[in-house]
Amino acid sequence: MTTEFPRVLIDRFRRRVDYVRLSVTDRCDFRCVYCMAEDMTFVPKKHVLTLEEIQEVASAFVELGVGKIRLTGGEPLVRNNILSLIEQLGQLPGLDELVITSNGSQLQRMAGSLRELGVKRINISLDSLQPRRFRHLTRYGNLDQVIAGIDAAIEARFERIRLNAVILKGRNEDEVLDLVNFALQRHIDIAFIEEMPLGLIDEHNRALSFCSSEELRQIIAREHLLAPLGDPQSQEGPARYFSIANGPTRIGFISPHSHNFCHLCNRVRVTAEGRLLLCLGNEHSADLRAVLRAPGYSRDKLKQAIVNAMAIKPERHHFDLDETPDIVRFMNTTGG
Ligand code: 5AD
Ligand code: SF4
Repeated sequence: MTTEFPRVLIDRFRRRVDYVRLSVTDRCDFRCVYCMAEDMTFVPKKHVLTLEEIQEVASAFVELGVGKIRLTGGEPLVRNNILSLIEQLGQLPGLDELVITSNGSQLQRMAGSLRELGVKRINISLDSLQPRRFRHLTRYGNLDQVIAGIDAAIEARFERIRLNAVILKGRNEDEVLDLVNFALQRHIDIAFIEEMPLGLIDEHNRALSFCSSEELRQIIAREHLLAPLGDPQSQEGPARYFSIANGPTRIGFISPHSHNFCHLCNRVRVTAEGRLLLCLGNEHSADLRAVLRAPGYSRDKLKQAIVNAMAIKPERHHFDLDETPDIVRFMNTTGG
């Protein structure tokens, strides 16, 4: 027997969920200081969803009206056979936008294939243009390799490329203008993301290193004319965008601390272990892996679990840098 599901997901606060971020692995070849501890324990492989299970989850969401999927990690491109999953997702009828967030380390060899298989847009993390500092912030990253990856993505003609930069006071705040200029020269976008208290880290004190979007906007405004672009609802997600010097580059600010965008939230996340997270800043979740691996599995059961989870999507997050974080998950388990 099949159940009829409406092709739409709506939560208790009348928000339509049409965007899913799927973490395909919690592993990463970097250990960015704001994202991970130096010494990380990763999820045992048998607990991670198989590529077939991820495909099943994606299909269920799309049948429930989700039109946009972002693949994240960890670093999604270090997952074995990721291109075969992307190929299948690229062919899912009803999926309008397949996009990806990457640290850029594998893009030199993979950007072309990603584009050919239907990935439309890509976000690439870049926090510094100084090789030694880049190595410090990522603990293992090689700047030249990432810049070559960014250039390969430009070559592959994605519809949009956005750099993501997390700025920490006293670490890379002096590079804000250099990063903006890098994006300007390459005609790509850049978003500055306020650091979020996800995961317990001791490498730095998050409250002391916090740089607000407003501070960054003022630094940029000293050299560039920033013109606000449209209302936030007409843009995707929580970033507030500005145009710069009448060029194609957009500068975005993602400010979970200073600007609450929860009322516009249209997204949910699935961790590499198949936990459906209803909010980045809360622990409310549903275990999709348990549904996928239970005897008598059917896609309808999975869809029902997803529909049921809408009832526990929280109204908003409460990030607070001065308190011990409630969220013990690291960003690599949720993929940002
Ligand atoms: N706060 C803000 N951004 C983070 N990222 C990873 N961890 C954090 C954090 N604690 C960013 C990465 C990447 C994106 C997916 O999330 O830089 O660009
Ligand atoms: Fe890896 Fe991205 Fe986390 Fe850096 S921010 S450690 S690149 S998952």
